[in-house]
Amino acid sequence: MILLTGGTGYIGSHIAVELLQAGHEVVILDDLSNSNESVIGRIKNITQRDVLFYHGDIRDVSLLDSIFQNHLIESVIHCAGLKAVGESVKNPLAYYDVNVYGSICLCSAMQKAGVKRLLFSSSATVYGVDAEPPYIETMARGVSSSPYGTSKGMVEQLLEDLSASDPQWSVGLLRYFNPIGAHPSGYIGELPQGTPNNLMPYISQVAAGTLPELSIYGDDYATDDGTCVRDYLHVVDLAIGHRVALKVLDSPGVHCYNLGAGSGISVKQMVDAFVASTGVEVPHRYAPRREGDLAAFWASASKVERDLGWRPVKTLEDMMIDTWRWQQFSNKA
Ligand code: NAD
Ligand code: WQD
Repeated sequence: MILLTGGTGYIGSHIAVELLQAGHEVVILDDLSNSNESVIGRIKNITQRDVLFYHGDIRDVSLLDSIFQNHLIESVIHCAGLKAVGESVKNPLAYYDVNVYGSICLCSAMQKAGVKRLLFSSSATVYGVDAEPPYIETMARGVSSSPYGTSKGMVEQLLEDLSASDPQWSVGLLRYFNPIGAHPSGYIGELPQGTPNNLMPYISQVAAGTLPELSIYGDDYATDDGTCVRDYLHVVDLAIGHRVALKVLDSPGVHCYNLGAGSGISVKQMVDAFVASTGVEVPHRYAPRREGDLAAFWASASKVERDLGWRPVKTLEDMMIDTWRWQQFSNKA
């Protein structure tokens, strides 16, 4: 059985579906601070499988102990956390509390229960503001531009230290690039609270008429069309990456993998792709650069393909169509 923290969230819910469809038993722990319990029913609908759900906080040590006592957990996939970059600058204590202290609570409970196999949701942001793309796993972690990014680097470090202290631990650090899209069923996807900060939900809310227009932050970057470049990947491919990465946990030690496509797409190309794929217009204008944005980064995706045979298979059109289907579904839901 796999314990999936943050399993009602955007990425966690897709991981739950992927694991259940592959025959794993899954128990989810989520405090619903950024998700909704209805996601559990949707995961069951898609998979026609049962999934156990605990509504609770990863910092609740007695709850964690009881989960490990009540279920035979083999591995943990740790997605729970706070993820809004701008909010982390305003409220760093909350980010270190949930992301770092929460991970310490989880690892302590795992250690106590003798469960020492963990996949951690890390981020490309750990490469830091000075790294040159493509980002390669052999690069050192850099200085992040936000407490959010720093918290991810801190957890990576603590997991490395934990593994060095006890060779029975096996840890996968999975560094996500820019996950977008939604499950093709239309039942699960990203549910941003309030006005989205990220590009894809912003585009789809403008297309739906919920927001008037998209601001493209900066058209004077040193990129082909002047807009920022990122490595976008479909959230279903990302979820498959987790299922596949479970096998690295058979070898002790720390295993670090980028989960990205290995190529970059500009903001302008994203808008054009959405319009071309859905036939729906996205009113937009160019606006000043957003503070803290890097001009361009993408993954080196060769290590994960070589070791695990994983690479994203969904197309940019899939990402756009699935986002739009989810946008229309979640509008009605
Ligand atoms: P999300 O907010 O949709 O999911 C996170 C889930 O964790 C939510 O369901 C939330 O309710 C839960 N949670 C938050 N605090 C908790 C706590 N104290 N106890 C229990 N549950 C708690 O975010 P997501 O996009 O699915 O991200 C999942 C993970 O992946 C996060 O750790 C995030 O930092 C990481 N990540 C996300 C991205 C991205 O672009 N979405 C990129 C890189 C890394
Ligand atoms: C993508 C591009 C914007 C909104 C963030 C976090 C990162 C990771 C993923 C977790 C940028 C541009 C955006 C808009 C725009 N999360 N944009 N208009 O900034 O690459 O990464 O989310 O680990 O840590 O920093 O993603 O989707 O916010 O932006 O022009 O309204 O779209 O400037 O170039 P980002 P994003």
